[in-house]
Amino acid sequence: MVSVTRARKHLLQVLWLGLVFAQSGRAHGDHHHPAGTHHVLVGNFGSAYNVTKMLDGTQDVGEGYLYTLAVDAHAKSLTLTHTTRAAAAHPWLSVNRKANVVYGSGWSPPNNGHRTFSSYKIERDFSVSHLNTVTSCGTKPIANDFIAEAGEHGVFYGLDFVTPCGEVWAVDKHGAISNKIQALEFANGSTLHGFATTPDLKYMYLTNLGLNTVHSYALHLPNGTVTALADFAPSQLGAGPRHAAITSSGAYFYLIDEEGLRVDQFTIDPEEGALHFTNTSLAVTPFGLTPANASLYWGDEIVISNDGKTLYASTRSRDINFPGYISAWSLASDGSLEDTLFILPTPEAGGTSNILSVSPWDDASKNMLLLTDQDTDFVALYELQGLELVLLDRVNITGTNCCSGSVWLN
Ligand SMILES: *[C@@H]1O[C@H](CO)[C@@H](O)[C@H](O)[C@H]1NC(C)=O
Ligand SMILES: *[C@@H]1O[C@H](CO)[C@@H](O)[C@H](O)[C@H]1NC(C)=O
Ligand SMILES: *[C@@H]1O[C@H](CO)[C@@H](O)[C@H](O)[C@H]1NC(C)=O
Ligand SMILES: *[C@@H]1O[C@H](CO)[C@@H](O)[C@H](O)[C@H]1NC(C)=O
Ligand SMILES: *[C@@H]1O[C@H](CO)[C@@H](O)[C@H](O)[C@H]1NC(C)=O
Ligand SMILES: *[C@@H]1O[C@H](CO)[C@@H](O)[C@H](O)[C@H]1NC(C)=O
Repeated sequence: MVSVTRARKHLLQVLWLGLVFAQSGRAHGDHHHPAGTHHVLVGNFGSAYNVTKMLDGTQDVGEGYLYTLAVDAHAKSLTLTHTTRAAAAHPWLSVNRKANVVYGSGWSPPNNGHRTFSSYKIERDFSVSHLNTVTSCGTKPIANDFIAEAGEHGVFYGLDFVTPCGEVWAVDKHGAISNKIQALEFANGSTLHGFATTPDLKYMYLTNLGLNTVHSYALHLPNGTVTALADFAPSQLGAGPRHAAITSSGAYFYLIDEEGLRVDQFTIDPEEGALHFTNTSLAVTPFGLTPANASLYWGDEIVISNDGKTLYASTRSRDINFPGYISAWSLASDGSLEDTLFILPTPEAGGTSNILSVSPWDDASKNMLLLTDQDTDFVALYELQGLELVLLDRVNITGTNCCSGSVWLN
């Protein structure tokens, strides 16, 4: 009797371990590639893209491409594996890992003041194939976001940089963008650029460069719609809130200001989701909070490493003869600031890119991040080694006007 019980207990333990193992395999999303090999997808701004001509959102930017690259975390290398002609140029991408689908804001040829959003299936070899395309509310769809936990199959969000609008879309069980469930309206003069969501998925924040404000919303998870709450100002007039990152503790909100060339620190009120500026601003260039030549730089991206310990920001140089910067700070476990780590020049100016994405995994890639450059067209793989950011590898992708944002597929 005793031995039977022990045998059953042992069997249950084996089953339980098997389940844990299967789940961790699923969490890492990939059963077909050696551990430590990840794939990322990068977009472009269009083969004929010209930042000046596209300012008002009316340029036909030409052909769009999506590039699949393999990150070998052990060899510390980056390799281009596929270049796919896309339905449109995609300045920004997000990923639906449950359905294995990627979404892109589409700079398709402008049509009556509208452009598009597209979805792509991620194939077994990590190339992508077009699923569907829908019409966007405006003429320069820029950032997008996907929340897997919202709605029945996840919910897709898009924002426009020229037309003062945004939108919320349900996706179907295959991940295709299916129907618009909410239209978001903003005042004239708005230029919307970024999303941030609290870890408990109660609040969403949208950054509005043009109106120098951060809009907060309550997120209704059962269907993914949002309700406007309050607006918050960055540290200065004309700072231009661009993107934000929220710590895994849910306690701190870090905002990068495109014109203000600074990161503003806020605490988040857990009751109403209100932001409180802490009076702490961090310079993103080596030239202090108010460089004399501030107009030659523009702040760009802000991300937090997957372990929550490092905050990174990137900045572009408008002058192609000068580099942009990656700056970093260490964070305590509550998300508060510890130290300034470095402000390191990027390989080139960055163009309209210098966009960062951190590894979302906790394996050998955990301290890695990607930088994409549209000035001289490359993707760079970096790793934080101790207190130092090391450039591990770089892939030049010339001829098609690479590279916009990147997403980690697996
Ligand atoms: C981009 O467009 C502007 C305005 O038309 C023009 O002055 C500039 O030369 C163009 N840049 C390139 C690289 O073609
Ligand atoms: C989504 O849920 C909210 C909150 O319950 C509700 O007010 C709204 O009507 C719903 N919208 C849709 C499109 O289902
Ligand atoms: C925004 O500007 C447009 C075009 O000038 C005008 O028709 C519209 O009434 C304005 N909307 C608001 C909310 O001011
Ligand atoms: C920030 O500075 C203002 C003005 O000096 C002060 O009233 C406020 O209490 C400060 N806030 C924090 C969080 O220190
Ligand atoms: C801006 O000014 C700093 C400090 O004088 C200088 O080192 C830097 O090269 C300048 N940047 C550009 C783009 O001219
Ligand atoms: C990528 O381009 C840079 C700048 O032109 C060059 O220095 C480097 O050798 C190139 N790398 C490869 C692998 O071709």
